[in-house]
Amino acid sequence: LVQGAMSKLVPLAPDSWIPGGVPDPLIARKHGLIGTPVSRLDGPLKVQGRARFSAEVDAADIAYAALVHAAVPRGRIATLDTAAARAAPGVILVMTHENAPRMNAPALFGSSPTAVGPADLPVMQDDRIHWNGQPIAIVLAETQEQADHARSLVVATYSIEPSITSLKAAKDAGPKPGLFMGEPLLTQIGDAEAFLSAAPYKIDHLYRTPRHNHNPIELHGATIWWDGDTLVIHDATQMVTAQGLTIAGVFDLKPEQVHILSPYVGGGFGSKGLWVHQIIGAAAAKLAGRPVRIALSREGVYRIVGGRTLTEQRVAIGAQADGCFTSIIHSGIAAMTPHNNMPEPFILGTKVGYGADSFKLSVETVEMDMVANTFMRAPGEAVGTFALECAIDELAAEIGMDPVDLRILNEPVKDPISGLPFSSRHIVEAWRRGAERFGWSERITTPGTRREGEWLIGMGCATGTYPYYRMPGAAARITLTRNGTATVEIAAHEMGMGTSTTTAIVAAERLGLPMDKIDVRYGDSTIPGAIMAGGSQQTAAIGGAVIAAHNALVAQLLKMAGNDSPLAGLTSAEVGSEDGALVKLDDPTRRESYASILNRAQMDSIVASEEASQPLEMMHWSMHSHSAIFCEIAVNSITAETRVRRILGSFDCGRILNPKTARSQFRGGMIMGLGMALMEETQFDERNGRIMNPSLSEYHIPVHLDVPDIDVIWTDIADPHTPMGAHGIGEIGITGTAAAVANAVYNATGKRVRDLPITLDKLL
Ligand code: MOS
Repeated sequence: LVQGAMSKLVPLAPDSWIPGGVPDPLIARKHGLIGTPVSRLDGPLKVQGRARFSAEVDAADIAYAALVHAAVPRGRIATLDTAAARAAPGVILVMTHENAPRMNAPALFGSSPTAVGPADLPVMQDDRIHWNGQPIAIVLAETQEQADHARSLVVATYSIEPSITSLKAAKDAGPKPGLFMGEPLLTQIGDAEAFLSAAPYKIDHLYRTPRHNHNPIELHGATIWWDGDTLVIHDATQMVTAQGLTIAGVFDLKPEQVHILSPYVGGGFGSKGLWVHQIIGAAAAKLAGRPVRIALSREGVYRIVGGRTLTEQRVAIGAQADGCFTSIIHSGIAAMTPHNNMPEPFILGTKVGYGADSFKLSVETVEMDMVANTFMRAPGEAVGTFALECAIDELAAEIGMDPVDLRILNEPVKDPISGLPFSSRHIVEAWRRGAERFGWSERITTPGTRREGEWLIGMGCATGTYPYYRMPGAAARITLTRNGTATVEIAAHEMGMGTSTTTAIVAAERLGLPMDKIDVRYGDSTIPGAIMAGGSQQTAAIGGAVIAAHNALVAQLLKMAGNDSPLAGLTSAEVGSEDGALVKLDDPTRRESYASILNRAQMDSIVASEEASQPLEMMHWSMHSHSAIFCEIAVNSITAETRVRRILGSFDCGRILNPKTARSQFRGGMIMGLGMALMEETQFDERNGRIMNPSLSEYHIPVHLDVPDIDVIWTDIADPHTPMGAHGIGEIGITGTAAAVANAVYNATGKRVRDLPITLDKLL
């Protein structure tokens, strides 16, 4: 632990307050803990196996669950024979739609701020089949092995109905306008088609990205029991509060009757939310009157947890003779189901990428009978920047310009669509520093001409952007004790990215206490407020909440200090925390320690609980994380095997709070981008809607030998309009990486692969 490195306080300049977003006073300070590399506080627990994940929580008389999955894409269950399963050794219960308790359909994500249902389908309430893999029965047994065996004895027959399982059939049925969070995915400025046809330089291509399945190391699972009328779920989730509220709606319970606990999550990436297994598990626990452990198999995750859906995207860009863009067209389709709410909004990055005279951006959706697709790390941006950033590279080749220069030339001075000023955008600096460090000037422009033996070598680059979000509703509760310790409670999540550690850093810095005096509690739906680990916004949301609670704490302490204190007469705006004391910001001789204030008031502790300020900053500025990715690859000229040799991410994401965990986030995202570029593809059988490669032996992700030296740098320029000056970093790493790889493949071989993943058959 880093101890005792305390900040020096500097008051804010009076003109630094700007309507719509109050700059955090921390921006103006010299920092002690913030920016210091701190190892994860939860790390030792995890490597020693002492962290209890949701499907490892102990309970007396636990019943183990196994699911039976439908084998047709659409229709009705004709017969469902569970007799052999019920008679199998150790079986406690077989639950199907015939004996499941009555439940409401979960409220669909987006239908209210706290609704997180993956689809608005009722769960195990009728004989209808909506996707190939839908659970049709759950078996509870005394051991997992007995449950797994008994599930194999359930026999179903179906009356099959016509289904849409091919992209062609879905397109023939007609696309619909895409809606993302209630907003149409459609933007038009000027006549982009006319500008395109008039442009002296132009490209116009179709890019395709496949389905991707979620593969967090921790399989989805929950340990569930009923305590009287209270439902307790130890779950692996990115949204404890909203999950509890949605499940309460399913079972007609009051919000306080559902308690979700989720202290450890072994990777989420958008997948650790509500799926049908928690609902079915809770219903079975009720029916059996016993705690249930439902731990999905890897195949089970593929069958019932949705992933990233497929897209087909047209990108057309027109440019003048000098390279300035006149037209940007980015349109196409994403596949969805009739029952979910996630249209893979691939135009979001294009809305802020480059300046142009005209834009035509749209996403339409086509519907297929499949498991509800969902968020997957940078939903929209990850696949959208693949298309856009490959297109930029193609245009650069057309014009005969360096692709970095072309990007810098078209850097917008303000948000090209909304017209808002950027709060903090230093992407040109990221490009220049990245190019210098990577040795971009050594790239040979003519493709297919750099050879090392039988290997063709190429370099490519791409930009990534990911929006800054800070969702409303975040809160923090701080309990400060007379002996100089503090507990900080937030309804947030640790999925392995370092949130609990960064929260401790931020709280220690705010409270002026050493980090080892701070106890961070999180991952529990009974903590006030709601902070979702999603949209790369959790850290900003936590920061806003900790700031608000700290301000409330300071106000209480000042009141308590009274007229006998050296702080008498000061307002909370004039006071900050430092070295376990309140201090007048511009006169550090006026100070009193927390212990002294609490002693005089004869209090052992005080509590401050407060909601974060409204995230108004998002209304006044265009706010984003940025990256410049550089990649060098080698393609074997005989076998077409592609090896990534080195990759550099140059990021501009505001202030970096914890360089150690941030570096891991960036690298992890870039590794996921390598998988997207070269390997990952869900094989979906278009005849029957069955996923054919539901395992890590057949769904390929990068292994250590596929991952080269990864270099990560960042600008570390604080955004004055966000809590703590930080932007999100969880999703920017994957964004742009696939395009950088594809562009390097072009530079190496002269082949444009516009259809991910770039497998060797496409290069031969
Ligand atoms: Mo993320 S895809 O917002 O967990």
